[in-house]
Amino acid sequence: MALRIGIAGATGAVGQEALHLLEAGSLPISEIRLFASARSAGRRLSFRQDPVPVEEISVGRLSGLDYLFLSAGSSVSRQYAPVAVKGGAVVIDNSSAFRMVDDVPLVVPEVNAKALNRHSGIIANPNCTAAILATAVWPLHQAAVIERIVVATYQAASGAGAKALFELDAQVRQYAAGETIRKEVFPEQIAFNVFSHNTPVDDSGFNEEENKVAQEIRKIFGEPNLGVCPTCIRVPVFRAHSEAVVLETRRKLSAEDAREILRHAPGVEVVDDRQANRFPTPLDAAGKREILVGRLREDPSHPRALALFVSGDQLLKGAAWNAIQILERLAAG
Ligand code: A2P
Repeated sequence: MALRIGIAGATGAVGQEALHLLEAGSLPISEIRLFASARSAGRRLSFRQDPVPVEEISVGRLSGLDYLFLSAGSSVSRQYAPVAVKGGAVVIDNSSAFRMVDDVPLVVPEVNAKALNRHSGIIANPNCTAAILATAVWPLHQAAVIERIVVATYQAASGAGAKALFELDAQVRQYAAGETIRKEVFPEQIAFNVFSHNTPVDDSGFNEEENKVAQEIRKIFGEPNLGVCPTCIRVPVFRAHSEAVVLETRRKLSAEDAREILRHAPGVEVVDDRQANRFPTPLDAAGKREILVGRLREDPSHPRALALFVSGDQLLKGAAWNAIQILERLAAG
């Protein structure tokens, strides 16, 4: 059956990736509808060489779809996801609006595709950092049972949307031209700087991004007691997040065994050449659907802990590609 698919947030960084992935994919699509804000209404994007108008999202426009991919922020999701479901669509939502709701599956297909069997119309696509981490460490969890994860992230500007990407580019140019550096999207200068993730910090001292990573990993893994201690940091990288991870496991896992397990893991590519000093980088990960994993070492300070380094394209596996994988699985029945 040919599918009628909508993308809300189609003009944004993630929406554009979703459109390109659908274009390159093999799903039978009879109709594609693109939604954004009033600012973009009337713009034309192309899909498989046909021009497609961008429509302002509205209640009246969300019927007649089989699937809607929503990536226009939490408030848009809260407002329109239930409307689209009522209109007959299954919604794959990229925002944090429904991720922790009990009957909403939060899915990384390599980990918990089975959760797609039971839903009430909305499927949540995880936070980018959580999806990348989950894909990389799930095979090790299956082999040795992870009890605690300590992770420090190096998150790209484009994780904060297209405008943040342009801000990094603009600030680099301003610096090179000796001009005053202007900050509009991020509270701190992003060019030539590193700063704590730009989300509110709660009483415990963790910011929203860090809390999302911890809660979402527990939900995706189905492990409510898994210990997770994240430190989320923005770095002046255009695209692809990296993560320095230490895992404590119930059973001892050697670095060699972990490397072998990851070599056969879906969605993962091992880049771990000690001699050549070649390990994952965000530049290598950018544009790839796979998560790069390397720097596998046994932690000398703990009897059952492993250290590793991960880079993954947060617009692809961290967002659009994970969503399209979900869509493909749903469409396959
Ligand atoms: P628009 O381009 O019209 O502003 P990004 O994450 O790259 O910043 O992209 C956000 C996406 O969400 C864009 O497609 C943007 O559309 C869309 N968007 C933002 N706010 C709204 C809104 N209130 N209603 C509909 N779409 C929105």
